[in-house]
Amino acid sequence: MSEAISLIRYGQHPLAQRAREVMTRGNTRSTLFVDPAPPYAVRGSGCRVVDQFGAEVIDCNNNYTSLIHGHSIPEITQAVSGMLADGTAFGLPTESEVALAELLSERTGHERWRFSNSGTEAVMTAIRAARAYTGRDVLIRFEGSYHGTADSVVALDAPGVPAGVRSDLIVVPQADRVAFDAAVADAGDRLAAVLIDLMPNRAGLVPAEREFVQHIRQTTERVGALMIVDEVISLRLAPGGFASEYAITPDLITAGKIIGGGFPVGATAGRADVLAVFDPLAASNVGWGGTFSANPVTMTAGRIAMERFGVAETDQLNLRGDALRAALTRGGVAVTGFGSLMRLREAVDFTELWWAAYQRGVMLGTNGLLALSTAMGDADVSHIERAVIDAVDSVRERNNS
Ligand SMILES: Cc1ncc(COP(=O)(O)O)c(C=O)c1O
Repeated sequence: MSEAISLIRYGQHPLAQRAREVMTRGNTRSTLFVDPAPPYAVRGSGCRVVDQFGAEVIDCNNNYTSLIHGHSIPEITQAVSGMLADGTAFGLPTESEVALAELLSERTGHERWRFSNSGTEAVMTAIRAARAYTGRDVLIRFEGSYHGTADSVVALDAPGVPAGVRSDLIVVPQADRVAFDAAVADAGDRLAAVLIDLMPNRAGLVPAEREFVQHIRQTTERVGALMIVDEVISLRLAPGGFASEYAITPDLITAGKIIGGGFPVGATAGRADVLAVFDPLAASNVGWGGTFSANPVTMTAGRIAMERFGVAETDQLNLRGDALRAALTRGGVAVTGFGSLMRLREAVDFTELWWAAYQRGVMLGTNGLLALSTAMGDADVSHIERAVIDAVDSVRERNNS
């Protein structure tokens, strides 16, 4: 992309102007906004996205880590197009959800699966299941971890969250064992579950300490509470989920993003006896619907995406990520992460950094996140490396001058 396309032109583009007339700041998702206006995507193919100016960038955002194979995968396009003529939403279950659950169950070892349309819903479902199963109310979670937008998982002082929500929540600083133990003691026999993301993106994308994670597992077992691991982002890091890297088995996990093959998805999975709280034939059960949950388009696309992302592909993508992180570090860029996920940790203005990378042909997450896809070749990764180093250098220089 030419540097000549200035960001001011994005703010003045007729589409941006139209958008601002009907949506606050011109779009739906808070995380996609960049000042003065985000580029609007026109199409994507493989690892590339084209915007309304015709500018083409390498997609390192991958819809916030969800597109493990990039855009418009021929097998998925073909399968989904073929389905459209047969109907896309039914008031009946379909074989497609069974097939995806079978694949995920075999790969991760989690016994039962329940699908939804977003990671947010998956987290809400898991919390409800844990509370119903244990008959307890309190949830412990960690400060700064993002688990979607439900009242119980956003910042306690976030505008619009009722004070009552706080009474059943204890929020503990990341990796703070003393505070965690105190919270467990404080909750006593009211503790239903501990919710943890093992590599929280918004808290800096640093993998949790093994001992701490194992301590949480042992503690929850000891006090009869459940351990929920949020794998919405981290499932891409290991075939069994990132929890498998810690040699623990959570009672419940939440998943999303890559398991939808580019379509809206969420899933809650785990022990059969816990998921049995949803048993419609039980005398007392948790009712949980979702008009478009487990729709056949998502389920089919997700199955194809996951079939193409087995052990070898996962390892290969992680190695590629490790190599890129090492190259960025050698280039003087502060970066954290694991395998195919990384985050720039520079003390610079991130809006400026986002545009600087975009103008060098690379689309990041607005928080400096990079998620690799199998659609990237060696030349793409080299381009990303050079563009990011150059973008960081230029913004540092501007910020310090
Ligand atoms: C760890 C984690 N949990 C939950 C969510 C919420 O997922 P969704 O955006 O699909 O609602 C996200 C989204 O980025 C996430 O990163």
